[in-house]
Amino acid sequence: MSTKKPKRYNVTTALPYANGPVHIGHLAGVYVPADIYVRYLRAKQKDVIFIGGSDEHGVPITIKAKNEGKTPQQIVDRYHKMIKKSFEDLGISFDIYSRTSGKIHHETSSSFFKKLYDEGKLTEKSTEQYYDEEAQQFLADRYITGTCPNCGYEKAYGDQCESCGASLSPMELINPVSKLSGAKPVKKQTKHWYLPLDQYEPWLKEWILENHKNDWKSNVYGQCKSWLDNGLNPRAVTRDLNWGVKVPLENAEGKVLYVWFDAPIGYISATRELTGDWEKYWKDEETKLVHFIGKDNIVFHCIIFPSMLKAEGSYILPDNVPANEFMNLEGDKISTSRNWAVWLHEYLEDFKDKQDVLRYVLTANAPETKDNDFTWKDFQARNNNELVAIFGNFVNRALVLTKKYYDRQVPEPGDFTPEDKKILNQVKEYPQSTGEKIERFRIRESLQEMMKLARLGNKYLADNEPWKLIKTNEERVKTIMYVSLQIATQLAYISEPFLPFTSRKMKDMMNLPDKTWDELNSRELIQPGHDINKAKHLFAPVEDKEIQYQYEKLEKSKIENEKAEKQAEPLKDTITYDDFVKLDLRVGTILEAEKMPKTGKLLKLTVDIGIEKRTIVAGIAKHHDPTDIIGKKVAIVANLAPRKLKGIESQGMILMANNTDGDLKFLHPEDDADNGAQIS
Ligand code: 2FM
Ligand code: ZN
Repeated sequence: MSTKKPKRYNVTTALPYANGPVHIGHLAGVYVPADIYVRYLRAKQKDVIFIGGSDEHGVPITIKAKNEGKTPQQIVDRYHKMIKKSFEDLGISFDIYSRTSGKIHHETSSSFFKKLYDEGKLTEKSTEQYYDEEAQQFLADRYITGTCPNCGYEKAYGDQCESCGASLSPMELINPVSKLSGAKPVKKQTKHWYLPLDQYEPWLKEWILENHKNDWKSNVYGQCKSWLDNGLNPRAVTRDLNWGVKVPLENAEGKVLYVWFDAPIGYISATRELTGDWEKYWKDEETKLVHFIGKDNIVFHCIIFPSMLKAEGSYILPDNVPANEFMNLEGDKISTSRNWAVWLHEYLEDFKDKQDVLRYVLTANAPETKDNDFTWKDFQARNNNELVAIFGNFVNRALVLTKKYYDRQVPEPGDFTPEDKKILNQVKEYPQSTGEKIERFRIRESLQEMMKLARLGNKYLADNEPWKLIKTNEERVKTIMYVSLQIATQLAYISEPFLPFTSRKMKDMMNLPDKTWDELNSRELIQPGHDINKAKHLFAPVEDKEIQYQYEKLEKSKIENEKAEKQAEPLKDTITYDDFVKLDLRVGTILEAEKMPKTGKLLKLTVDIGIEKRTIVAGIAKHHDPTDIIGKKVAIVANLAPRKLKGIESQGMILMANNTDGDLKFLHPEDDADNGAQIS
């Protein structure tokens, strides 16, 4: 943690891929908390820049373009525009929302690479990589899928397994298949440049494990520690692709920078685009650099990008990387491909003028320390029971009564009771208590604190019942209304980072000047005699039918997904009889079966195939209990080359039927089929 007070702040948010709209998971994890943090810093009059933009390179974008018969540029143009607008509409107050297909970014990232290359900070290596002969292309990252060597999931990508989260390289996949043509890829030599992360390991250990032990969130620190404990390897920073930032070297035709090399440099490019005076935000130790990201981006922002910055030599390093966990939707993981999401642009259409409600619900339920769940029922309850019934109700009562009794003028208070005094003193403390939590990235707690003030106001009015007292004690009512208006004013100000639209409305209704956060530390925020404007409702109830409509939308996605899953796989290409007889299929009996520790999916089987006993590792643990399958007759591929799965050599494969619902069924030979009998 920087011990000195920072002179300025550079706050970045993960650049979303411009291959689809943004959803509530993105918002809860990154953009809403970052926006709250930045709005607070601005109110504290800090010198802060808030950086965002689209990540426009990488394989998912080219795959999407190919599927739609469009160019990658057309795809990113469409989504960049859409994402930028929906962020603006939600009040995410970026100082710049840039993009990585821009010229300034290509220049910045290309020079960054060139500098590392010229200074000998990169290593060059030729290796064999998978190549699709039909498509005539190397298969980087998501262009290739196969079985995860870690958990047995059959649709793992060349860079990551989405089932167990393991980070992979294409060479580790079992049964790799090209995403482009469906063909089995061949191996071919190719040259790439690597960042020797192993050389940065001692430095990273000190920088993260010692210096940031106490100020980085435990989920972030824990992930870094596990990466560092496992040891780091050199990482390729280039790819054989034609969409991306061209490698600025001779003889590098058809090679581009790896998307995870260029994307974080996008933060620097965006700052250069924003201001000519960009260097102070990146090269001055008195700047506090903060990266807001989701948990899937931790290694890139805490290990790889800092190593790149360190290698380059002239940049500062992040002071903090407040990564959130994931937001699920109605108990299920948010998924773009399964359309299981609440899309921001659709929300903004369905719930006009309810931007703050989404900001509120996502913050109240923010996945700061663990994955959390968004449900429409909770959305409705939080809106109706908290924003409408507490916050809105209090402010409305305070303003309507001021109009009724004092023609919209703040009354002169009489003597304060001890309770009034206590409340006025408390009101003054809220900027400090909410702000201190925001600074520590405890944004959810900070929102609760702000709501505590709204509850305090609501209770104060309910307890004192000025609408009854007005008949008997007009003087006392003046004091009550004065105190209530102080609370409402403080709410108008301190709600700004969380609920900027509501705060604006309140300031307009109450005729309030802008104030800095530090000016809010006062016992009198609104003076007697101050004229307020007409009161309007701040929040409206969310009706059952609106929620019903959202559930119907999700139900539609569910039905579509089930339909898609039920479709049988298309037939493969025809093979010759000679191809078929190459397979040696045999009858066997399962003698032993046990779960392999820590894999979740794998069973280690001993199978008698007549001639000998074989060890076979099968990814069926989720579908079959070991005790149920001992003694069963099975069909096996007996001449499959052995391979290691989680350290155990698997000497064959059990034939299974892959059901459309994902279940795996055995093909059982009849009981009197002999072990070792050939299947033909
Ligand atoms: O995970 C993602 O969506 C990436 N596009 C994030 C990139 S963050 C930064 F490095 F640009
Ligand atoms: Zn896996």
